[in-house]
Parts: sequence; C-alpha cells; structure tokens
Amino acid sequence: MTQVIRLDPKRPRLDAIEEAASIIRDGGLVAFPTETVYGLGADAMNDRAVQRIFDAKGRPADNPLIVHISDRQMLEHVAIDINEKAEDLIERFWPGPLTLVLKRGPRVALSVSAGLPTVAARMPANTIALELLRAARTPIAAPSANASGRPSPTLAAHVVEDLGGRIDMILDGGPTEIGIESTVLDLTVEPPLILRPGWITLEELTREIGDVGSEASSDELRRSPGTHHRHYSPKAKVVLVEGGSREVIEEVCRKYLREAAIGFIGHTSISIDDKDFHSIVLGSTACDYAKKIYAALRELDRNNVRVIIVQTIDELGEGSAVMDRLRRAASRD
Ligand code: TXA
Ligand code: MG
Repeated sequence: MTQVIRLDPKRPRLDAIEEAASIIRDGGLVAFPTETVYGLGADAMNDRAVQRIFDAKGRPADNPLIVHISDRQMLEHVAIDINEKAEDLIERFWPGPLTLVLKRGPRVALSVSAGLPTVAARMPANTIALELLRAARTPIAAPSANASGRPSPTLAAHVVEDLGGRIDMILDGGPTEIGIESTVLDLTVEPPLILRPGWITLEELTREIGDVGSEASSDELRRSPGTHHRHYSPKAKVVLVEGGSREVIEEVCRKYLREAAIGFIGHTSISIDDKDFHSIVLGSTACDYAKKIYAALRELDRNNVRVIIVQTIDELGEGSAVMDRLRRAASRD
C-alpha cells in the first residue's frame, strides 16, 4: 500500500511531514516534490534503504543517486574537500536546480555513489522537500520518482502510475515548477564539467566560476554512468521535427497517420481532424516546454499512440536542456 498525502506546497501540514520523515528514518521510501521533478527518497546514510530505491525503480546498480540536503551544514556529512568554486556556486544557486559532484564523505551509503569516489549533492528549492529534510534530520538520496527509463514525474499521479504499491508514501504537492531535472556539474575535475545539462545553463555557470566544460567525452560519460542508459522514453516512438512550418509538420503527421494512431506535441496548432490524431499544444518558450513535456509524453502513451511527433525549440539557454531530453527520448539505443 502506498499512502498519498495531498499538501499545500507553500504551507505543508507538519504532522504529515513528520510522518514522512519517520518513514525515512525507519529505512522506508517516500516520494516528494522538488522544483524540478518528483524524487523518490530514502535515508542516504542507510545502505539497505538506498538499495530499496534501486529495486522499486528497476534502476541499474551502476547509476548513482543525488543526495538532497536542507542546509549548508548537512553538506558536511555528505561531501569532503568542498572547494572555493563549490562555495561560490552554492552561494549563488542553492537552493535551486544545480547538482554538484564532489568528493564523497565516508558516511554516505556505498550504493548511493554506485562505487564511485564522488557524490552528487543538491539543495532543492521546494518547501515540502526542505521541510521533509529538516524533519528527517538526515540527507535524503533521491533519483527521479519514475520507473527506470520512463519520463520523469512532474505530478504525483505520474509517481502513482509508475511506483504505486512499491513505495511507502507519496507527498503530493501539485505540479512541479520547472519540469525537467537539475544541471549536474562535476567539480572534481578542472575545468568543471557539465555531466547533464539542466535548468542552470552553461552561461550562468561560466559567469560565476569561469571556464566550464560541457561536451561529455566517453571517459566522462563513464563517470556519470546514468548518461548511457536509455532515458525519458515513452512507450511510443518519438520523432523530432526541427522547427518546421505548419505545412511541413502536417505532412509528417499525415505520413505516420497512414500507419497508426499518432500524437503531436508542439507550439504550432495543427488542423488534422482524425480520431487517431492526438495533439498537445504547448507555449513556445523553453519554460513552457519544460513544464509540460514529460506529462505530455505520458498522456499520449495513455492514448496508445504508436508514434509521437515533437516540434523542436531553439537550443539557446534553457532550451538546450529541453532539447537534450527530447533527443534522448527520440533515441532508441
Ligand atoms: O532534478 C533532479 O536532479 C532530480 C530531483 C529529484 O532532484 N533528480 C534526478 O535524479 O534527476 P536522477 O537519479 O534521475 O539523475 C541523477 C543524475 C544521473 O545522471 C547520475 O548519473 C548523476 O546524476 N550522478 C549521480 N551521482 C553522480 C556521481 N557521483 N558522479 C557523476 N554523476 C552522478
Ligand atoms: Mg532520472
């Protein structure tokens, strides 16, 4: 049985937070909202509890987890050798959607880091998450709360869909604000390296700490093992249409529609009237896409479409993180 508790995201009931915190302290699993996507949390210092996360998600054991903290003090229990660049970034971006890879502290459960000498840490900008961390009085390891390989959850209903019955509790704080995952920055190499693009952009990071690398070579990809696993994929095949005028998109849609039911996600409304055509129109900014893209992919899966055509957006600023996720969804490797 998975207990779902609906909470006011600004002022969550403390009795519910306390109950969730005691589940964490007892080695259980609690899904909670962050500003990016929902996370599936367990006590980061308890190896057996962390193991349950991998089991519930069907996550490969070589894909390490992000440790969430509520304040700077808690970071001391998680990481060592916190350098000046880390301090600058923490000051500027925490709480917020930036994950820092640092040297691992000795008390963090081994399975969190999947055998690596490093640990990924972040302070989420979400009241429910921060209250839960404070009440639990322990760092919380939390990957996105989806079944491994599925699009990340931006609503509690997505967590129920993937993990209902496999976890102890879900704190429902409504839709998440940003909608795609945090930027992962490795600070154990020089210059620091973006392992996963996210809402905090390369430009913002460079402005704060100078030179930052972003092209992950195969060596770096080995260091962030999650990056080689299939990710963010709905059941349907995803086809990207770059930019595209309305006429071009309609032509592509009609071509696939001859074979099967299809879905369309984009910022241009398409006038195809067919019971096998399902269209979800979003705003045209990176923000609009980020907020709704995973929910849209899941909704079209529920409509049992065979192909999902997605209109791309400009790869500028936050748009590059959105396009990174879309390209992964579209790749079948
Ligand atoms: O926004 C987010 O980051 C969300 C919320 C819940 O905080 N979490 C999330 O976690 O997206 P997950 O597990 O889905 O993605 C974690 C990413 C993976 O790409 C993983 O390989 C990388 O962080 N990672 C974790 N620990 C690492 C480490 N020690 N070194 C390199 N990469 C690491
Ligand atoms: Mg994930």
